[in-house]
Amino acid sequence: MEFQKNIICIGAGYVGGTTMAVIAAKCPHCRVTAVDVDADRIALWNSGNLPIYEPGLDDVIRKARGKNLFFSTDIDGAIRGADIIFVSVSTPTKSFGEGEGMAADLQYWEKTARRIGESACGDTIVVEKSTFPVRTAFAMERILSTMNSGNRFQVLSNPEFLAEGSAVRDLEEPDRVLIGSHDGPEAVAARDELVALYENWVPREKIITSNIWSAELSKLAANAFLAQRVSSINAISVFCEKTEADVTEVARAVGMDNRIGSKFLNASLGFGGSCFKKDVLSLVYLCRCYGLHEVAEYWNWVVRMNEYQKNRFVQTMLGAMFNTLAGKKVALFGFAFKADTGDTRETPAADVARSLLAEHAEITITDPKAIENARRDLAGLPVTFTPDPYEAASGSDAVAVVTDWSLYKTLDYEKIFQSMNKPSFVFDGRNILDHSRLFEIGFNVFPIGKVSLVHF
Ligand code: NAD
Ligand code: UDX
Repeated sequence: MEFQKNIICIGAGYVGGTTMAVIAAKCPHCRVTAVDVDADRIALWNSGNLPIYEPGLDDVIRKARGKNLFFSTDIDGAIRGADIIFVSVSTPTKSFGEGEGMAADLQYWEKTARRIGESACGDTIVVEKSTFPVRTAFAMERILSTMNSGNRFQVLSNPEFLAEGSAVRDLEEPDRVLIGSHDGPEAVAARDELVALYENWVPREKIITSNIWSAELSKLAANAFLAQRVSSINAISVFCEKTEADVTEVARAVGMDNRIGSKFLNASLGFGGSCFKKDVLSLVYLCRCYGLHEVAEYWNWVVRMNEYQKNRFVQTMLGAMFNTLAGKKVALFGFAFKADTGDTRETPAADVARSLLAEHAEITITDPKAIENARRDLAGLPVTFTPDPYEAASGSDAVAVVTDWSLYKTLDYEKIFQSMNKPSFVFDGRNILDHSRLFEIGFNVFPIGKVSLVHF
């Protein structure tokens, strides 16, 4: 079949792989290729065992792969034939040098920009899909224009707002698609071409355009606002525990104000994931670079509050279990950073596990999708793993719910109680269990932001 457009994505990770799969499914007239330096990852994308767990993704891939969706390690070959190049490489927090622990590490996109400059043929649209610091497009344009004088490049910013666990739905029915560009005629033509691509399935009114710096900043700002909501409700949860207010009741009352809204007000043991901490810290670093120290500190507290909440969870366990965890057995229910994903990047579970081990507790971790990643994250530490939550809880002193998998709501807690040491404790870091029922069964129950239910 003759394809009308050749679209590629450099970086076949959570975002690149999933986004290309949905574009291929929605645009059968386009040939879509995701490329990556990681040959093992590409082999998994081409196998029956995808490199990531994402509800609905298997189906989308099965329908498009081999028809108009391809995964490959031939990066230069793909660049040569591309009309539109999405860049979705990693932008982790820098772990060395200037800005260590805060600034975004830009080495992967810079290598990518040089590679595009070397291999591209003809006029090419380059789309920033990764989350970049504001004004990255400027650097990208400089590299491309100095490297390849024969070709013309248009750089657009099209940040991705999908959340893991709901990525396919978020891509199929996005709240909005944002495309930032310069305002010259060639840039506007490139922007319109990307708009037309999304119009294959997204209603036109949901595709918004802006200047390129606004688009780059909007992504950092959106993640900062979302993270701020979680830190705000978590700050209220601490106050609830001191005053016998109930954080769920407060969140309900506050969220019903339609100026505020009800989403992202679930108190928890802290947010995790590859984006929130990294992007808020990137924003903090950028503010500092521009000399905006008060603004930097304001956003920095979103992350500090989150660290406090994660520590507090383990402190509560220690205090409740008579100030010693040495030799006690704790079952961690969940290790993924949220439900419906196997991703463990920046998961609060890893902090909890390490803090419990520092107290000489013995821990068993259970998770329906994240055990492989958990084993890798905690390699060398004395931790036991099992996919079976009943086995994890058996013989333990405490169960700590760390991930909000809905399966944990429906377990037989009578059976779990019978199999545990007494007194038995439940620490619900997600407030997903029926606390009164657990208390009736005999557990001592410690939720987040609510009165604890204790038998002694
Ligand atoms: P990821 O680590 O899963 O994927 C990035 C991929 O890029 C990896 O497979 C890596 O091998 C590849 N890569 C790195 N350097 C390369 C190079 N020079 N050439 C080719 N491939 C290269 O990361 P991700 O979660 O997909 O995130 C990618 C970007 O999207 C980040 O900027 C992130 O902030 C942003 N983002 C992520 C999410 C999310 O939920 N994960 C959501 C929105 C935006
Ligand atoms: C986030 C953004 O939501 C998404 O738009 C962006 O593109 C990438 O970063 P993600 O990290 O996949 O997505 O998951 P998200 O649903 O935002 O959850 C982040 C963390 O916050 C998780 O650990 C989650 O459990 C926690 N959270 C979320 C809460 O603790 N309470 C809430 O009310 C919501």
